[in-house]
Amino acid sequence: MPAEITIRPRADYSDDQWAASGRLNSAVYSPEDVANWPGRVIEWSRPTWHALLWNADQTEAMANACLQVRAGLLAGEPVTIGGIGGVMTHPQHRHQGHAPAVIKASLDYFHAMGNVDFGLLVCEKSLVALYEHLGWQYWPGRMWVLQRGERVPFTFNMPMIHPLNRVPELAGEIDLCGPPW
Ligand SMILES: CC(C)(COP(=O)(O)OP(=O)(O)OC[C@H]1O[C@@H](n2cnc3c(N)ncnc32)[C@H](O)[C@@H]1OP(=O)(O)O)[C@@H](O)C(=O)NCCC(=O)NCCS
Repeated sequence: MPAEITIRPRADYSDDQWAASGRLNSAVYSPEDVANWPGRVIEWSRPTWHALLWNADQTEAMANACLQVRAGLLAGEPVTIGGIGGVMTHPQHRHQGHAPAVIKASLDYFHAMGNVDFGLLVCEKSLVALYEHLGWQYWPGRMWVLQRGERVPFTFNMPMIHPLNRVPELAGEIDLCGPPW
């Protein structure tokens, strides 16, 4: 039986479920990882929904993604972007398709909304091939974000997009009209 995936706002998870999400996060990132992460200086936006993939008795979260929908611009035209961040799988449960399952569920969630044009995530260069394998495409154009109210190019890591309502041309600029995720 496929593992259950829940996608909910933080407020709709119980304290026990949220604690499980915290345990997953701590298993993936040590305090040293967090303290030394170069991205800690970036202003990130808060997700709206948390996707969690559960073990059989629903007590431990094995994989996570964070979701939000953003009104942005593609080549100057308004677009609705499905943002995915915080993709992670518990180190003891990797290579079992959990992250792909959570990402697929997240894309399905956006698709069901009906108005989301494409998915967008950002990742380290070393993960581009993994996301390409999952149907994402590297976005070669410039991407703009807001950082403490200032519009700046995003260069920290690699934007990847996934078609939903539309298949964006890999040209022009994307403006997230807010902090990245
Ligand atoms: C990256 C991460 C989320 C992957 O999670 P996972 O659940 O173990 O993912 P899986 O290995 O089951 O699935 C990844 C898929 O990409 C494939 N893949 C992995 N590396 C690849 C590469 N370099 N090139 C092509 N395909 C690749 C795998 O074969 C697998 O596909 P398959 O199921 O068809 O075989 C996990 O290693 C993790 O949590 N890392 C630390 C946190 C992190 O870096 N998160 C990403 C933030 S963007």
